[in-house]
Formats: sequence, C-alpha cells, structure tokens
Amino acid sequence: MAIVYNENSRTFLLHTKNTTYGMKISRYGNLLHLYYGQRIPDENLDYLIQLHDRGFSPNPNEAGNDRTFSLDFLNQEFSTDGKGDYRSPSIQVVNPDGSRIFSGKVKDHRIFPGKYTLSGMPSLSFQEGEAGESLEIRLLDQESQGEAVLCYCVFEDKDVITRTVRFENHSDKPLRLERLMSMTLDLNAGAYDMITFPGRHLMEREFTRVPVTPGLHAVGSSRGASSHQYNPFFILCEKETSEDQGLCYGVSLIYSGNFLMELEQDQFHKLRLNAGINPKDFSFLIGPGESFQAPEAVLCCSGEGLTGLSHRFHDLFRENLCRLPYVKKNRPVLINSWEAAYFDFDEEKLLKIAGEAKKMGVELFVMDDGWFGSRDSDNAGLGDWKVNLKKIPSGLSGLTEKIHAMGLQFGIWVEPEMVNEDSELYRAHPDWCLKAAGRPMTRGRNQLVLDLSRQEVCDYIVSFMEEMLSEAKIDYVKWDMNRSLSDVWSGALPAERQGEVFHRYVLGLYRVLDQVVLSHPEVLFCGCCGGGGRFDPAMLYYHPQIWCSDNTDAVNRLKIQYGTSFAYPPCCLEAHVSTCPNHQTGREVPLRTREIVAQNGIFGFELDSTKLSEEEKAQCMEQSERYRRNNAKLILSGDYYRLSNPYENLYYNAWSYVSKEKDRALVSLVITEKEGNDAQRFLKLRGLKKEAFYQIEGRQDRFSGALLMQAGLPIPCGLRQYEGISFCLKEV
Ligand code: GLA
Repeated sequence: MAIVYNENSRTFLLHTKNTTYGMKISRYGNLLHLYYGQRIPDENLDYLIQLHDRGFSPNPNEAGNDRTFSLDFLNQEFSTDGKGDYRSPSIQVVNPDGSRIFSGKVKDHRIFPGKYTLSGMPSLSFQEGEAGESLEIRLLDQESQGEAVLCYCVFEDKDVITRTVRFENHSDKPLRLERLMSMTLDLNAGAYDMITFPGRHLMEREFTRVPVTPGLHAVGSSRGASSHQYNPFFILCEKETSEDQGLCYGVSLIYSGNFLMELEQDQFHKLRLNAGINPKDFSFLIGPGESFQAPEAVLCCSGEGLTGLSHRFHDLFRENLCRLPYVKKNRPVLINSWEAAYFDFDEEKLLKIAGEAKKMGVELFVMDDGWFGSRDSDNAGLGDWKVNLKKIPSGLSGLTEKIHAMGLQFGIWVEPEMVNEDSELYRAHPDWCLKAAGRPMTRGRNQLVLDLSRQEVCDYIVSFMEEMLSEAKIDYVKWDMNRSLSDVWSGALPAERQGEVFHRYVLGLYRVLDQVVLSHPEVLFCGCCGGGGRFDPAMLYYHPQIWCSDNTDAVNRLKIQYGTSFAYPPCCLEAHVSTCPNHQTGREVPLRTREIVAQNGIFGFELDSTKLSEEEKAQCMEQSERYRRNNAKLILSGDYYRLSNPYENLYYNAWSYVSKEKDRALVSLVITEKEGNDAQRFLKLRGLKKEAFYQIEGRQDRFSGALLMQAGLPIPCGLRQYEGISFCLKEV
C-alpha cells in the first residue's frame, strides 16, 4: 500500500518505489513532519521527534506546564501562524477581529484510491494503467473555523508525491487569506546545497549551486508570469551529491504566475522549504462557505544524484502532465519567420522563404509577428487579430492553402494577452487592460496587458482564437506573452479584492487555454514568453513545447539548455538553427554546431532560407533528415545525461540521450574554449549497459559499455573553437 496510517502511533507513511514520507499527529493535534528520504519499512519513527526546553520558544496552552513542547523547533507539515513558530509560515490569515493567527489541528483524514481533484489549474494525472492513492488531512483552526485541507497523491512508480492545499471558510464571516503555500517541507539539520535557476531575458535558467547558510533564501516572481528571472523549480541536495550519486530533493510548482520558493535555515540549523503563490501582492477574501485552491506542487526525492532526479521529473512531465496527443508524437521540423524577416515581410517574401525551406527538409512554416492589424513594428496593432491584407493579399486562408500546397504545414504567431494603445481593440475597450484609474500607466515593449481577471476579456480571446482557427487550417500556434505585468488593478473588482488580480489573471489564462487548446488537439501549440519567460509545468500542460529562449546563439544556448534540463525534458523545448553571425551576440559558430545544439530539443530553423547558398541548404536538408531518422526518437523518449557542467568545464560541453532499453545513444559535444597544443581529453559516457558492446555509427570498432563509461572516448584534438561532434551508438 502506498499510504499507510497507523492508528496507534497516529503516523502516516507515504511510500513510493524508492522513497518514504512520514508525518505524525502530535498529542495536541498538530501535524508534525517525521521523515522524507530513501525508502524505509513501516516502523515507529516517534524517536525522530526530540523535545527540549529551549529559551524563547513559547509553549502552546494545551501543553500546560510542559516547556519542552514548542512549535518553534518542531518539524511541521503545515505550519501554524502566530502560535510560536517564527519561521516563514505555510499560511497567513487575517481573521474578522483583525488577528493574524491560524492554528490548524488535525480534524480528520481520509485515504482513497486515485487522485484528489484540483479545479481551475493544471495538475498531474495518472496515465492509463497507472494507479495511486491520495490522502486528505483536514486542519481546522477552531476559533476562526478556517480549514486547511492538505492533499497528497502518491505516484508510486515515479517516486513522486504531489501536494496541494485547499483553504475552506466554514465560518459565517469572511476570512482574508494573505499567504497559502502549496507545500511546506521541514527537514532536520544537515549539510545541504541549494540549486536554483535564476536568469534574465536572453539568458534564462542559469544553474546556480550554493551552500545553504543560516537565514532565509528565496527565489520567486512578482512579474505576473513565472518569469525569465527565476524558475519555479528548486533542488535541495546533500553537499556530496553529484550527477551520479547522493540524496537530493526537487520541488516544482505547476503554476505560471507569481510564485515563491523559499528555504529557511533556522536557529537550530533545521530547514524549511516552502513553495506556493508569492504572498507579495496577494490577498484573497474568502467568503463564508467559499474556498481557495493553491496550485499543485511536485515533490521528488532521488537517492541517485541529480541525474536520477532529472530522469524522474522528465518521465513525470512527459507521461503525467500534458494529456494532449501531440506529446507522444514526432514534432515537425519547422522554420520560423521571426529572425528571417522580423516585421519586414509580405506574402511573396514568406512564400519564398517557405519555398527555399522545402529544400532544407522543413515540414512546418511558421509566420511570426507582424501579419495582423497595423502591426508594422512592435508599437502598434496588438489586439487586432485580423490579417493585414496589404501584406497578405490572399488572406489567412489563401496563404495557408498556398503553404499547404507546397507540402508544408502552416503555423502562426499570436500574443492574445496583450494590447497596444494604437489598436482598434484599445480604442473600443480602454478599460480592458490592467491600469489603475487616475494613475499614469507603465508600458512594456510599448504594450499593455489585458485584464484576464475579467470574463469578457477571456471570452474575447477565445472568440478571436476560435475564429482564426476556423478561418484557416492552422497546424501550429505560437502563443506569446511579451511583457511583465505592472499597474495590476482591475476595474471589475472592488478595492478590497485588488490583491486577487494577479492570481485571477492566471486563472483567466487557464480558462482561456482550457477552451482554446484542449478543444483543438489536432493543433500543436508552442508556448513562448519572450522566449523562456513562462517555462513552467503549467504551461507545458497546454503547450507540449516551449520556445526556450529568444537567444539563439548556440554557445549561450549550451548553458540555457543545460539549466533547463534539470527539471524539463529536452523534448519540450524548441531550439533552432539561426543565422551567422548570431543576431543576439554576433558570434560566429559553424552550421554543424548550430545543428548539434538545436538537436538538443525540438529541432527547427530561424533564418532567411533565401539567403542560404545551395550548399548550405543541402547541409540543412541533411540535418533535418538526421533529426528525423536517428535523433528525434531518442530526444522524445530517451533518458538525458549531462556529461559535463558548462560552469565548471570551460573546455567543452557534452550531453547524451540513451534509449530506455539502453541499446542506442546519441552523444553530442561542443568545444567552448580552445587552447593551443590542447590536452588530450576523454569523454566518459553514462547510462549504458556495462556488459554490452556498442558500435559508433559509421565505424567498425566496438567498445564495451564499461569501457565507454570508465575510460571514455578521445575528444578529437583537431576540433577547433566552437566546433562540435555528435554521433549515434548502437548495441551490437
Ligand atoms: C517574442 C518571441 C520571439 C518573437 C517576437 C515577436 O520576443 O520570443 O520569438 O516571436 O516576440 O514579436
């Protein structure tokens, strides 16, 4: 059984294949955390709770004169607030009398088969044939009648526990919720590192590993989207944990808006990890009988190092997140018009680009920004989703037909959540955007953000998207979002509810995506937010692939894709071969290297095909064929191995994909810092069968898996700066 409750010790144990999670109801009804780590048998864990009389640690009334019971140092499953626990809390409620106290005691619990329900937001689900159990524990604050319902679901084979919290108001007065974490994890003292993925536009998800020190450490977003700056993924690992070995915990939040992940090392060196909606700018009024649902958090523990952790997240996101049929299908090799033409195109030019792209093995042509309204630059037109007939005289359906007649699929760019002041939409509905009455507004890329907390705005987006998708046979949609939110105030809500707008925006977006994306399973949706500004699991639920970064420089991409790979399987990130010198950095990188890096994800092109020589187009054709013939299957379903860390190994960056059967592999390497009279280096492979023999494609010699992993393959000394190699291995 995955979830066991022991009546005598009042202990819950949640078992996955390799891990155990334990908690206990204290003698006073508090829910305490006992253990999370590698799997242990069903045994008594009470000794893990050690009580001491400590100065300045208050004792709750129910403990009487017992000065050893204090919430100040006990590991809690979901913290109280205002009752003597001074660490960062799981919840903050303002009660009708103005007090800020919440003391949830276990009221009851239930264990049931399948998954708890979570409405209004994306969440994981079991795939066909998979089974699991859920646990719901109700923590009631007697005085306010506010109740936190903690939900857990065990994905046994995946070594994953999902968690969420629902706050219910059972009183007859409104309660104001100012913080509700989706999960809290209290751990005993130890020597830990934390790994986070900070970044910026054009340089997202930079791997950052630092020792945990006393105090509060936080990453999060207050930009309205999960952001380029921080990603809702957090790793806590023991000091000695490496790619191959050691204990680590990963936490992911399935949410696309403002989030907070904080780690506190307290006075006794214990750790508290919180993950949830960012309490900054958050305040929700919960009326009598109403409830509030926190987004889902995913908790995974690996005793097999960071690679083990990544593999678990990759399998989980591939199999249990996005239910759309496209996830499991091969994705077409595409060409996108953005870096080819920016806003400067007409139908004739697009058809030429598409025509030449055929010679490159491209299967899908994507018309990016600039095709609608008065969109001749990024200063106007957003909101007016009618094709500009001056640029595209055949109209959307005419152009689509022409592209299809060339034997290509057709894709289109939209940015539905935004509006330019210079647009028909804004002139008709100036109140539809986020801006506070009487205050000057703040522009970003000269655009404003539509107020998706308003139902009529969501309805408008659904209706123009439906119209567009019925007007022409569109195979692919790139859904973009190009600024951070500001002036977050909605004309549709009263003053006391303005703290709800950020979250209501996200809920509105999910409602829109539910209607548009889920009702068009035949269309491949690609997420985008100035590249990777909303690269989170909630978006992956709707978009099987996301444009990873606006930075197409192959060398910068090595780091971006490295960081992204810790949580997200490479088959969900788009990577394109772009022009040389690169538009973002000016760097010159060989075409083959640009291919190698772009084939560490969903492969495509982002350049003007009409400017390539016949020889270059032939090379691109080979690249597309290589991708389709050998690489796509491994990228979609194989296990991903990071073979070097680009922040430590400055000479080269390498990675591989190994099939689940371990009979095939794709190995890739790029030289990042060439030195004269170079040392002979060897690349040690990973994830192969020790006893099996492998042959490199196109060569006769054979190597055992053991040799390839222990001694490695020589990295050719003749490789020059930014040159790369990529080859397939096959078991023989
Ligand atoms: C964003 C996207 C780009 C491109 C432009 C168009 O920056 O990330 O790929 O679509 O918008 O304006």
